[in-house]
Amino acid sequence: MAKELNKYKDFLKANLSKKRYVHSLNVAAMSRELAELYGEDKERAYFAGLIHDIAKELPRERQFELASRCKIAVSQIELKSTPLLHAVAGAQLLMEEFGLTLEEDRDILEAVRYHTVGAAGMSKLAQIVYLADLTSEDREYKDVKKYRKYAHTSLDKGMYEALRYSIADSALKGNTIPISTLEAYNEILSKK
Ligand SMILES: [Fe+2]
Ligand SMILES: [Fe+2]
Repeated sequence: MAKELNKYKDFLKANLSKKRYVHSLNVAAMSRELAELYGEDKERAYFAGLIHDIAKELPRERQFELASRCKIAVSQIELKSTPLLHAVAGAQLLMEEFGLTLEEDRDILEAVRYHTVGAAGMSKLAQIVYLADLTSEDREYKDVKKYRKYAHTSLDKGMYEALRYSIADSALKGNTIPISTLEAYNEILSKK
């Protein structure tokens, strides 16, 4: 696994800024921490966290081209949005260039694919990476400590607060809200 990880780390170092590489390492570490807390596979969580932004700094055309081929429920809103595109492109890149498959690696691919928008029926691993991305050590937004605490309270609490924040923030900024984000939020609410 360590040797395998080096292959991905080399790709990340070559294709990400220093800052985003450090972010990736921090999300990996936080994913492992949350996996430990919630009884998920720690190695898989570390790996999924490490590679979640693998396509983030590829040229936009390359991201679009990858995302257009992705079979994991892609919406028009995402294809039109540069900040969202990299999650879908990343999952596709991992399949095309690194040989990950939906049969064996669905949880990891979905964690990468949904780390931006969330979705109803997300796996535990996908929720862990979503929350780790929001609360990793390098994050510095105003309420980060609060969201870090929620993420460590329970996955449901973490996701509920994170999605609530994401939807409210998008609406306040006048941005579109992907349907899958609303579906993830409604699903959490229905459990409460
Ligand atoms: Fe990302
Ligand atoms: Fe990220």
